[in-house]
Amino acid sequence: MTSTLGKPDRVLEQDHVHDVYNVIAEHFSATRYKPWPVVDDFLKHLQLGALGADVGCGNGKYLAVNPQVFTVGSDRSIKLIEICRARGFEAMVCDNLRLPYRDASFDFVTSIAVIHHMSSPERRFGAVEELFRILRPGGSMLIFVWAFEQEGKRKFQEQDVFVPWHMPKQRYNPDKSQQTAPSPDTTAPAPAFKEEGEDRVYQRYYHMFKAGELDALVGQLEGATTVKAGYDRDNWYVVVRKDERG
Ligand SMILES: C[S@@+](CC[C@H](N)C(=O)[O-])C[C@H]1O[C@@H](n2cnc3c(N)ncnc32)[C@H](O)[C@@H]1O
Repeated sequence: MTSTLGKPDRVLEQDHVHDVYNVIAEHFSATRYKPWPVVDDFLKHLQLGALGADVGCGNGKYLAVNPQVFTVGSDRSIKLIEICRARGFEAMVCDNLRLPYRDASFDFVTSIAVIHHMSSPERRFGAVEELFRILRPGGSMLIFVWAFEQEGKRKFQEQDVFVPWHMPKQRYNPDKSQQTAPSPDTTAPAPAFKEEGEDRVYQRYYHMFKAGELDALVGQLEGATTVKAGYDRDNWYVVVRKDERG
């Protein structure tokens, strides 16, 4: 399917999500260290010894929040996974739309600021279905997505938008980006950018969720009960429990 931004869904996500995160990985990681309170709270109230999956884990910011549970990270960006591994985390490259985990294998699942990078309703639901598939009955998952209704300085006219990432030119090091083993991601052409003063500006694709949209998305899951939902720091979030089999 072709998205409203004029490119087929997969191409849009490859060019304006995956390729961009690979190039900005180190700069992005340097800006991501403070856990959001709702996520922190969710992770700190899990059962001792619980096993979880953080899908779209980025630099692994949430993987060690609670040392009394074990969280496996995964992300589509090989560069971000390399950062996770360098930090000593268990993390693998894979796509949220095809997770290489068995059904019902995790006590908890987190998806923090990931689903908004999927560019069609079918792909967003497909991603949520995958998260739910790997959750065990009785387990809980937390999903955060960016809100259309932002309280900060960002205001959006459309739901499907490009959000610029400004990277100082001195952080861009093409030699370093070619040092990793070949993979579909690293051999992909570098994403397009514009020069603005001292910055390289990359465009990341986002689908900004309107009020009620995330609730409706998880509401399509069979056997799911929403236990908490709300708005926090320009994001919508939901906690969903998988019903025990009757
Ligand atoms: C805004 S970042 C959030 C990272 C992390 N969850 C955090 O809260 O810091 C979005 C992440 O989603 C990942 N991502 C985007 N599309 C993905 C997909 N289809 N499968 C897995 N990860 C994906 C990106 O590579 C990136 O690491």
